[in-house]
Amino acid sequence: AAAEKGGYDYFMLKEIDEQPGAVADTLRGHLLNGQIVLDEQRLDAQELRDVDKVFVVACGSSFHAGLIGKQAIEHWTRVPVEVELASEFRYRDPVLDRQTLVVAISQSGETADTLEAVRYARTQRAKVLAICNTNGAQIPRESDAVLYTHAGPEIGVASTKAFLAQIAAVELVGLALAQARGTKYVDEIQREFDALAAIPDQIARVLEQLDAVRAVAREIATSKAVLFLGRHVGYPVALEGALKLKELAYMHAEGFPAGELKHGPIALIEDGLPVVVIMPSPIGRPVLHQKMGSNIAEIKARGARTIVIAEEGDLVARSHADYLIEVPAVPTLLTPFVTTVPLQVLAAEIAQARGYDVDKPRNLAKSVTVE
Ligand code: G6P
Repeated sequence: AAAEKGGYDYFMLKEIDEQPGAVADTLRGHLLNGQIVLDEQRLDAQELRDVDKVFVVACGSSFHAGLIGKQAIEHWTRVPVEVELASEFRYRDPVLDRQTLVVAISQSGETADTLEAVRYARTQRAKVLAICNTNGAQIPRESDAVLYTHAGPEIGVASTKAFLAQIAAVELVGLALAQARGTKYVDEIQREFDALAAIPDQIARVLEQLDAVRAVAREIATSKAVLFLGRHVGYPVALEGALKLKELAYMHAEGFPAGELKHGPIALIEDGLPVVVIMPSPIGRPVLHQKMGSNIAEIKARGARTIVIAEEGDLVARSHADYLIEVPAVPTLLTPFVTTVPLQVLAAEIAQARGYDVDKPRNLAKSVTVE
């Protein structure tokens, strides 16, 4: 087993380092002669063109990838997207018809609730596209189209490289749909694809600069709780950061949209409480950046210890942060690729500092095939 871990103490740490490759391998071969291509495609061009509503269904981290994907799909296609936990979707009465595309995201391809959501969608004549990391698993087998993530086998129970690969895949689905519906020209698709293709190098840069994250982890390892604040695509990143900390370090952790602070979460702030803030880009999202600056000032005034994940050179973030973690500037829709990585490492480091096995967190399973 030690050899399989390739010198790492845990598979999870190895898998975090494998993320540039996971994203690159997921993108590879999907832009051919200016066309986005899926792996399996049993829908005709007309069926894709006719899609007028998208539901993304998933569980756990895969659900967070869906929340990030929603922003890209709507932006590129102008088709409304709902993202729903599979366990909620399948037990209500969602409005589906033959023009609905259900995108099922599952690393394992065997999660019971996601599989049943797929089966339900098909009874309603909706089309189903699976994003899956496991060749030939049940969910892709029962879908009309498939885009495989190529993260390779993921052993750590908490998803890391599969999650980043899922973001790449769902963004490719957005481009495929934009292409089918004609909402993006060929050269625009090429440009978006090129931006995605530049991401693995940026992830590699983040992986080279983790000392600040490790230092923060040591500082906050004994805290009782940690809050995570984000906006726009930073909000699902906040949810994912909180989930990782719960799963691995057994700490109370919650992610909130920063705009909701005054509607509740700010009541939780007390002296010394660590709050992780995913700062929007000052150039990409100046309005949100400014609002987040005010949010940080508010929580600091109430005693929070602020850990700010910000774009390199963000002076506002620097002036507000008790601990600053810088990530390279990338297009806004792609920022989750770089902002998630420090949060994975933060959770893994805290868990190790507390003496836990990060590959096998208590009570959790890698895939939940029974309800
Ligand atoms: C479990 C795993 C998570 C995963 C979730 C969904 O909770 O521990 O890492 O995100 O299931 O699994 P799936 O295989 O459907 O992506």
